[in-house]
Amino acid sequence: MTRCLGGIWGSEYHLYVQPPQTPDRNIALEMIRVTEAAAIAAARWAGRGDKLSADGAAVDAMRFVLGGIPMDGVVVIGEGEKDEAPMLYNGERIGDGTAPQVDVAVDPVDGTTLTAMGRNGALSVIALSEKGTMFNPGPTFYMNKIAVGPRGRGAIDINASPTDNLKELSKRLKKSVQELGVVILDRPRHDDLVAEVREAGARVISISDGDVAGAIATGWPNSGVDILLGIGGTPEGVIAAAALKGLGGEIQGVLYARNDEEKKIAEDLGYSFTKVLMTDDLVASDNCYFSATAITDGDILRGVRFHDFGATTQSLVVRSKSGTVRTIETFHRHDKLQEFTTAGF
Ligand code: FBP
Repeated sequence: MTRCLGGIWGSEYHLYVQPPQTPDRNIALEMIRVTEAAAIAAARWAGRGDKLSADGAAVDAMRFVLGGIPMDGVVVIGEGEKDEAPMLYNGERIGDGTAPQVDVAVDPVDGTTLTAMGRNGALSVIALSEKGTMFNPGPTFYMNKIAVGPRGRGAIDINASPTDNLKELSKRLKKSVQELGVVILDRPRHDDLVAEVREAGARVISISDGDVAGAIATGWPNSGVDILLGIGGTPEGVIAAAALKGLGGEIQGVLYARNDEEKKIAEDLGYSFTKVLMTDDLVASDNCYFSATAITDGDILRGVRFHDFGATTQSLVVRSKSGTVRTIETFHRHDKLQEFTTAGF
């Protein structure tokens, strides 16, 4: 028997009358400490014009906290290859080696330039899914993406034109094309896309960086963002897929190569530049976890604030299996933390 409880996220809640089951572990609630630590570390560099130091500080903090978490994780999306990245490199094992076995995607700073310039929209993010279920971007850098929130799920097709997608979405969301907010990274490669979206009558919300936050916004009620379009990082696409799974949205991607050489290297490894990667291709597991903490202010989360007692952070924590979405504000106490950890909060 089920009873409808409402539908603010675009899908109805139902109360399932089933034998009671003890809630299992939600590892995303442990991941929040990871992104909080990284965000605080990066925020100390916000506005200082040094994106490498911001990223390095976030990586160190993330690695430090991750090391203490009971799990057997492999970094599928990290900071690059072992020789270039001393920490959180692709293939690195993290956690204490006990269950669960998980794939891990990290982006200690999504928006390194945003952070360095003190601009809005930078996040520290991590996504986890059951072992072997996360798309490995390999040598592919870019992906053409289309993403929507729960109410737009099923109304998009990356092979259709932007205009057709906007028309379908407008029908689904029961608002006119002129009322749609379309997030697009501000890049010369998107000039034609922006022109087409404007010609269709929709409103372009131009972001200078940070398309993970842009994708999340599509799944967030009242964000003003209905759809994300355009080419961004492949790793960011996978991470966005984990977030959108939990939020009930959808992302589709097609790998994009900047030149023939990039394409050949990837094709030789079996990657396709025509195949549509659906949400489930990017993250196959229905039990995935996502945590993001704002470094600088954003539409959904406020960035790190420093106080005499320490710092406050705001985070978004999502688990796809339960569909639970949490926003968490945390007060970090300098004096108490220093009693038992050397972490640089
Ligand atoms: P970084 O934090 O690594 O700089 O990435 C920011 C970002 O804007 C991503 O959100 C996005 O997917 C990607 O860069 C787009 O790449 P590019 O800046 O090369 O167009």
